Amino acid sequence: MALRNLTPDDADGVVTFVRMAAFPPDRELAPDALERPHARRWLVGWGEELGVGWEHEGQLLAAAWVRPVEPVLARDEATGEPLDEVIIAVAEQARDAGLGRRLLEALLSRAARAGRPGLVLTVSERNSVALRLYERVGFAHHARTPTGWLTMVWRPPTSTTTPEVSPPLADPDGGAAGRGRR
Ligand SMILES: CC(C)(COP(=O)(O)OP(=O)(O)OC[C@H]1O[C@@H](n2cnc3c(N)ncnc32)[C@H](O)[C@@H]1OP(=O)(O)O)[C@@H](O)C(=O)NCCC(=O)NCCS
Repeated sequence: MALRNLTPDDADGVVTFVRMAAFPPDRELAPDALERPHARRWLVGWGEELGVGWEHEGQLLAAAWVRPVEPVLARDEATGEPLDEVIIAVAEQARDAGLGRRLLEALLSRAARAGRPGLVLTVSERNSVALRLYERVGFAHHARTPTGWLTMVWRPPTSTTTPEVSPPLADPDGGAAGRGRR
């Protein structure tokens, strides 16, 4: 299992993660689902993205990356620069093993090193696992819609060094080496 940056060659591989993150898990997807603007914007013009993935035996098990969002959800307070939005998903069989957290920490670390002023995301308040993950890695509540969608913002640490903090990740296939939850 290896953490790596996403590359232009991942254009097809990341589609599955958009399906997981942008649509409710309990409904069958319409054939044109990925053509809808809120899904398509994560994929269109795929190239040198700021993004990371976990790969296992040549297959992506998880991916997280950032993209500009329109309309703008949040801005850098100092410069007014719009903040890019984060998407993240972990393959079902690899969840609840710390992968999402490690992946997001790696993405945030890269974003800080790249000088990004912050990142933003939206999450349903019913998605308790994602919400907990975002709070854990430092996203703060920014806004809420009446229908229960939260906007959360992450700002980079002010220090110039941004270490990736978690200990080495256990193999999610590896049973005893896992984090032992549930
Ligand atoms: C949200 C998601 C990325 C989390 O990835 P993951 O690898 O399963 O998460 P982790 O194992 O790193 O756990 C992150 C936190 O959530 C908690 N968590 C994980 N699975 C959980 C579960 N089934 N029930 C309750 N809490 C859970 C963990 O305890 C952990 O919190 P902790 O650090 O306090 O222990 C993953 O569930 C997923 O891909 N979901 C579908 C796509 C999605 O919803 N994307 C986000 C759209 S906004």
